[in-house]
Amino acid sequence: VLQGVVAVDGPSGTGKSTTARGLAVRLGARYLDTGAMYRAATLAVMRADVPLDASRTDADGHDDAVGVAMGADLVMSTDPTEPRVRLDGADVAAEIRGADVTRNVSAISALSEVRRHLVDEQRRIVAEAAADGVGIVVEGRDIGTVVVPDADLKIYLVASDTVRAGRRSAEDTTAGRASDPSTTGADLARRDKLDSSRTASPLRAAEDAVEVDTSVLDIEGVLDRLEDLAAERG
Ligand code: C5P
Repeated sequence: VLQGVVAVDGPSGTGKSTTARGLAVRLGARYLDTGAMYRAATLAVMRADVPLDASRTDADGHDDAVGVAMGADLVMSTDPTEPRVRLDGADVAAEIRGADVTRNVSAISALSEVRRHLVDEQRRIVAEAAADGVGIVVEGRDIGTVVVPDADLKIYLVASDTVRAGRRSAEDTTAGRASDPSTTGADLARRDKLDSSRTASPLRAAEDAVEVDTSVLDIEGVLDRLEDLAAERG
């Protein structure tokens, strides 16, 4: 049983959620999906119907959005077998994966005040796991660099563009959402660009992260590799 923190970062479509969740199950650890927090905050902004410009990664015109995102009533549950995201008391797991939230989330996640607020909450959840003596696997974009820079193990997942687009598209199809690999590929590229070029905590690998390429490994192969790495650090 791992009692520390594993940070899993990387761009979309590299298998982060499946991997981080599966690793948490194998390690008997908790699981925190920070992308779901940015997505739920984005959904709150969309529901409040305040101005939101999906193409911007600065705060201009987003004053109202900042207020709504920071005031959002978000509750995360960290059981890896049944992770839940609640907004205003209702489960929004399906809604936050839809195309509308996906289109807008990079603009909201680029707002530094919103980030500070959610990072505080993420650190609180990590500290709670430590206080309870259980490990936690935290996935996102800035976990190893900003949220938990002293994590016991930092993983940075990568995969080829083709594999990433294919995976996202298959996920959409399974969830009953319309999709095709070429538009999914374009959306991934757009989000990568916004997430990597923003000034507030851009997506990048921590210097001490172990890079794992998931293009050629199946999920069990990735999990075996990460479990070995966790055992070495644990
Ligand atoms: O991982 P997921 O695709 O659900 O993340 C959605 C978006 O949330 C990302 O494109 C990124 O803009 C943002 N995000 C972030 N920092 C994190 C996790 C997610 O900025 N730690």
